[in-house]
Amino acid sequence: MNVTVFGTGYVGLVQGAILSEVGHHVVCVDVDADKVEQLKLGIIPIYEPGLEAIVKENHAAGRLEFTTDAVAAIQHGQVQFVAVGTPPDEDGSADLTYVLNVAATIGEHMERDQVIVNKSTVPVGSADKVRAAVEKVLKRRGRSDISFDVVSNPEFLKEGSAVADCQKPDRIIIGTDCAASIDIMRELYAPFNRNHDKVIVMDVKSAELTKYAANCMLATKISFMNEMANLAELLGADIEAVRQGIGSDPRIGYHFIYPGVGYGGSCFPKDLQALIHTANSIDFDAKLLKAVESRNKEQKTTLFQKINQHFNAQLKGKTFAIWGLSFKPNTDDMRDAPSRVLMEALWSAGAKVQAYDPEAMEETQRIYGNREYLTLCGTKEAALKNTDALIIVTEWQNFRAPDFELIKALLSEPTIFDGRNLYEPNRMAAKGFNYYSVGRAN
Ligand code: UGA
Repeated sequence: MNVTVFGTGYVGLVQGAILSEVGHHVVCVDVDADKVEQLKLGIIPIYEPGLEAIVKENHAAGRLEFTTDAVAAIQHGQVQFVAVGTPPDEDGSADLTYVLNVAATIGEHMERDQVIVNKSTVPVGSADKVRAAVEKVLKRRGRSDISFDVVSNPEFLKEGSAVADCQKPDRIIIGTDCAASIDIMRELYAPFNRNHDKVIVMDVKSAELTKYAANCMLATKISFMNEMANLAELLGADIEAVRQGIGSDPRIGYHFIYPGVGYGGSCFPKDLQALIHTANSIDFDAKLLKAVESRNKEQKTTLFQKINQHFNAQLKGKTFAIWGLSFKPNTDDMRDAPSRVLMEALWSAGAKVQAYDPEAMEETQRIYGNREYLTLCGTKEAALKNTDALIIVTEWQNFRAPDFELIKALLSEPTIFDGRNLYEPNRMAAKGFNYYSVGRAN
């Protein structure tokens, strides 16, 4: 099938690459000419395991093309995916400017019947807006003979495992009431839908809400666990025992109940805000969502509070080693990363930071530039030299079994603040560390 994908961000690029891998002929279009040139050379703008090889291979095979030429791209596709960004507006609502611009462009240049697919995360009612934008242009062109449908087909991939998530989706949500579109979408996704039927067909608005409901549910689980962790600390209980205790109930499950330093990334914070905004706009008080958001904001400050308390609020002149900067492992994404809240709080208190992250150093450098108070180190050991304590913010695999003797030798005092519960408190005590973690007796 011939497919056009607008937007080569996380969602568009991965989706385009995966569709081409199964044999569809995909043209990805982006307004950023530099990015398009880089992609043609096989240079991927994001760190995502496995993606580069798939892009290179399918580009070389001619199944995956990159262009800035929207007109030619629109002629190519039988299905037009809209996967451009929906950044939060100042009031927290999702900004649909890019999505509606693409809709107008499609309306301007389509010459045959089309299925337009909203892949971007967009508020309930956006498909109607896209439809109206396309209709308006077609009417002006006097081309009401061309028919089209707008399908909501939200994406559920996770950064860091985006390729695998796309190759093996848990579900494929298709929001439309048009039988012909359902047919085309089923054909498109047939290679991913072999063992059992993963396609769930529903009306457009329900599909749009499904995306937000999924992310808000996951964010709620995390905030709930963080709240329990804070309670456990005060009560003298161990959240890791509690986590296993409740996770063993299949109705609760083990997934996504890890306490930590708060969720970050480009999705949960933005989607939660957007749904709260949608609720406000129809005079619905989304009490639970607001509580989730506020717990998360607070959670991002908890590591700093522990550090501040340990050092009796005397952080001026101290230097801290930070391991892990990205919002989670296996990505270089720093959007809404808890490490940023922590570093900024440390700097405000007059402390310096020596940081190491396996992938996010360049991105950190891009965000903060050269600062006297931030040194980016080439290895996790180098980050420890002449520092007052180690702070772990992201649970990269190679932080899980470090050389503790070396850590002790390099730190001026043996203190670790662990925002991800990587180590056993008893063992850490036996090794002679002051060990602070989340939701466990410190
Ligand atoms: C999230 C969803 O998991 C995807 O299903 C969704 O498609 C995506 O948003 C999106 O809307 O595009 P992502 O933001 O890549 O994916 O990252 P997650 O793996 O969900 O992690 C989000 C945050 O929650 C991270 O900061 C992570 O550290 C935190 N987290 C996760 C916890 O603190 N505890 C947990 O138990 C799980």
